[in-house]
Amino acid sequence: MLLPKVQNALNQQVQIEANASQKYLAMACWCDANALEGCARFFYRHSDEERMHMLKLVHYINDAGGTVSIPAVELPHSEYQNIRELFEIAYTHEQKVSAAIDNLIELCITEKDKQTANFLQWYLNEQHEEEALYRTLIDRIKLIGIQDRGLYFIDREVDEVNAKKAAAEAAAGK
Ligand SMILES: [Fe+2]
Ligand SMILES: [Fe+2]
Repeated sequence: MLLPKVQNALNQQVQIEANASQKYLAMACWCDANALEGCARFFYRHSDEERMHMLKLVHYINDAGGTVSIPAVELPHSEYQNIRELFEIAYTHEQKVSAAIDNLIELCITEKDKQTANFLQWYLNEQHEEEALYRTLIDRIKLIGIQDRGLYFIDREVDEVNAKKAAAEAAAGK
């Protein structure tokens, strides 16, 4: 059985992942509307990933005999000055999610819930990968620049990174 404190914290994380999925969906739409199809593909897929993160938590809570509370989702931010700002907002968001996962694991350790702490290791690794990915992409965006044909090359770059990530995940059966 899950301790009520742990269950509440897991349910909060369900909400965080659900909000992330919506945020990335809004970003995908902004990219689509701004003729950045590669970036749109990247964020549509990322939005699906966040939903998968949410579902993984939902199944964990249910399997542990707990009660899931499916949250209302926040209205996502949908206006961005440019693609660089959009990626920076996404990166800041990932950092916030990482902090939330850290706190969740801290709580499990304090409450001596080793099973949940172990389950959350997957999220810890995932956040590490996602933060690294965003840092790399922001560095490339800065390098290429958003002026003139820069946007075309940024879009191609992001599309390529996305395709590689999708292929690696498919190969790993993720
Ligand atoms: Fe996530
Ligand atoms: Fe994420």
